Amino acid sequence: MPEPLDLEYDIVADDYQTAGEASNNLKETLKMLGISSPICRRAAIITYEAEMNLVIHGGGGRIIANIDEDKIEIKTVDQGPGIPDVSLAIQEGYTTASDQAREMGFGAGMGLPNIKRNADIFEITTEVGKGTTLRAVINFTS
Ligand SMILES: Nc1ncnc2c1ncn2[C@@H]1O[C@H](COP(=O)(O)OP(=O)(O)O)[C@@H](O)[C@H]1O
Ligand SMILES: [Mg+2]
Repeated sequence: MPEPLDLEYDIVADDYQTAGEASNNLKETLKMLGISSPICRRAAIITYEAEMNLVIHGGGGRIIANIDEDKIEIKTVDQGPGIPDVSLAIQEGYTTASDQAREMGFGAGMGLPNIKRNADIFEITTEVGKGTTLRAVINFTS
């Protein structure tokens, strides 16, 4: 497995033009490091959905990825509106996406369920009016 590596990306709110670039860069980096395709795929899904949530819901924020010998940890941090009911938000199909986001094909309400499904550890810490932190870990042995 590769040497430990940390990657950070700033994500801009409501910028659908550049949305997806960070997750794409992370995916290409993992491939270059020789990480197996199933793990790359899971990390790409998690990062893409987390990135889109920063763009659409979180008012922008930061993605921090720590690539270790035995795992990848993907975190997002934002100072957005927070999530009032996390158990509701992680249900399939639940969305508060704007009409604008829905017109562009976003807002299926499958992002958080997909992140959860693809992660070995999945945690959301959030406070209404303060922001949201998401943490997802993929173990290479899983
Ligand atoms: N970073 C975030 N900040 C605030 N709310 C969020 C954030 N991420 C997710 N949410 C809330 O959780 C809901 C479900 O998210 P998700 O499953 O990704 O579906 P979608 O993005 O399609 O709405 C969102 O509609 C939003 O209400
Ligand atoms: Mg989403």
